[in-house]
Formats: sequence, structure tokens, C-alpha cells
Amino acid sequence: MKMEKIILTGDRPTGKLHIGHYVGSLRRRVVLQNSGEYDKVLIMIADAQALTDNADNPGKVRDNIIEVALDYLACGLDPNKSTLFIQSMIPELCELTFYYMNLVSVARLQRNPTVKTEIKMRGFADESIPVGFFTYPISQAADITAFKATTVPVGIDQAPMIEQCVEIVRRFNNAYGETLVEPKILLPDNQACMRLPGTDGKAKMSKSLGNCIYLSEEADSLIQKVRSMYTDPTHIKVTDPGKLEGNVVFTYLDAFCKDSHFAAYLPEYNNLQELKDHYTRGGLGDMKVKKFLGQILEEELAPIRERRKEFAKDPAAVYEILRKGSIAAREIAAKTLDDVKDAMRINYFK
Ligand code: TRP
Repeated sequence: MKMEKIILTGDRPTGKLHIGHYVGSLRRRVVLQNSGEYDKVLIMIADAQALTDNADNPGKVRDNIIEVALDYLACGLDPNKSTLFIQSMIPELCELTFYYMNLVSVARLQRNPTVKTEIKMRGFADESIPVGFFTYPISQAADITAFKATTVPVGIDQAPMIEQCVEIVRRFNNAYGETLVEPKILLPDNQACMRLPGTDGKAKMSKSLGNCIYLSEEADSLIQKVRSMYTDPTHIKVTDPGKLEGNVVFTYLDAFCKDSHFAAYLPEYNNLQELKDHYTRGGLGDMKVKKFLGQILEEELAPIRERRKEFAKDPAAVYEILRKGSIAAREIAAKTLDDVKDAMRINYFK
């Protein structure tokens, strides 16, 4: 039997999605969905994972389910081609997690770089880390393996999660026989898209830092945010030579700009390299580059914003998409859980 090609990925519903999510994974998912190369595309709203560090804030997670679903639909994820579903509606994921827990040591979890950074970010003292939070890489391995995913399109920050999942798959298959499928990470192909910096030049776009451009951003606030973007603080006069490194405007251009944008908005250049050369030589002002970036972002985001508004008119229909998707996803996960229990020989009544 030919191995099916299956995509599984998802996001935590802790806020609206921003253009970092978009260039890091969302845009790619739509292309993959439409490529016809995959047998299944599953997109999960990871509410249970969001609760691992929002235990005291279930309202936030609940309210953001619809926001994330609207962002998905607005970007072009199509329920006729992809299965959009909610993690907590698939109880089989908990059961798989429980069995995988026996295959992972505390030391291994402590070494997971993503967990390490997040523990620091949240300021947990060692002994007070919530167990659910600490073990979420195991539950993420359940998310991936439950659907026998072969391909996981995510940002680079998720690489340690996929590595840990692969280890769990190998351990399981070694202990109980070939059952689970090893997934492969699919990273953005462009360096700028790997970790899109915030508008303030800080390492990462994040809601808590207030440096995001949301997919639902209105045109006027989009332009305002582009205008106040961090560039090169030593580039004061137009004639000064400018630096590209750490210059957010150019990083965003790397992520969004195509040659065709020059013909449309800035015909005195043929491509991004020519614009960069002029900037570093001196004689090119930040405002001109920002205006160009604003036009490119508006061109990309305007149709997303409009589609989002259309879908937002009928929230019941959006929940219905998620409900149907969750039923379909659950069938797949239940089948895998059966395979897992057979392999583990805990199928006593069969
Ligand atoms: N950890 C991911 C994030 O924070 C969300 C997620 C949960 C996920 N389960 C997943 C991503 C499985 C890919 C595959 O964005």
C-alpha cells in the first residue's frame, strides 16, 4: 500500500493570528491544500494546549476559537478540502498522550528547548511548573501521530516538538511493533519567514509585546504601524547610507515582496536587490520604502480582511464547519487509537 501523504498542523487560540503566523505557516498551508498533492489536510485549533498555560483563563481560549477559525477561512483554508477541527473535541488525543507518557523521561522534557524558553518567558519556578504545561510536547506528539501525519508545516520554534514526536514514534514502534508514522517538519523556505520580527524590531511578533500586525488589521492602522516601524536608527538624513540588518522594513519586504510589486508601485527599480543597494548606498529615505511596504501589505491583506468580515457575519456557520471537522477528525484518531491499543495488547475484549 502506498503511504498516504497527510498534513497536520495547528495553532493555539490565545489571540487573533498575525502576519508572523501567516508567513510562517498559514500562507503555505493554503498552497499545500490547493496543490492536490496531499491525501488529507488537517488543521487543528489547539485549545487544550492553550489551556496548559491559561488554566485560569478559559474564557480567553473559548473566545479565540472563532477568531482563529475566521483567520483560517479568511486566508483560504477551505473546509471542502481541509478538515478544520478543535483539539479538545478529540478525546482520543488524551488517551494517546497517557500511553506516550510512559515513553518519555522528565530529563528529556527538561531538555526540550521550546519548553525551556517558555518556562523562562512565563517565569515559572522549577517546582511550580504545571504538569500539563511541562508535558505538552507529549500531547503534541499525540496530535501529530493520531492522524498518522507525514508532514507538519510549522515555524522553526516548533522544531524541537517535531523532534520529540519522532523520538516517541521510534520508541513506540520499537517497543510494540510498527504502528505509528514518523512525521517530517516542513519549514518556510525563506529566512525572513522563519521568525518574523515584531514591528518594533524585537525578536518575535507577539501579542503581549504589542508589536503585531494582525490579519484582520484595518487599512488605516496597518499603514500607521508600518509608518512607525523600526528601521536603522543611524539612518537619519536621506543621504546617509542605511543598514539592512535588523531593519524590520526590509525583513518584511523579504517575506512579502515580489518583483511584480515594483512594476505596480515603484517602477524605478526592477527588484528588491536594486532597492536594497540604493538604501545601503544612501539617498533613499525610509518613508519611501515604508510607503512601498504598506502598499504590498495592503494588497495582500485587503482580500483577507474582506473575506474575514463575510465569514464573521455568520458565526453559527463557522462553528458548524468546526463541528463537522471535529467529527471527521475524531474518526481518524479513533482508528489510530485502536491500532495503538492492539499493538500494546490492551485490547482485552477483542
Ligand atoms: N504548539 C503549536 C503552537 O504553539 C500548536 C500545536 C499544537 C501544533 N499541536 C500541534 C502544531 C501539532 C503542529 C502540530 O503554535
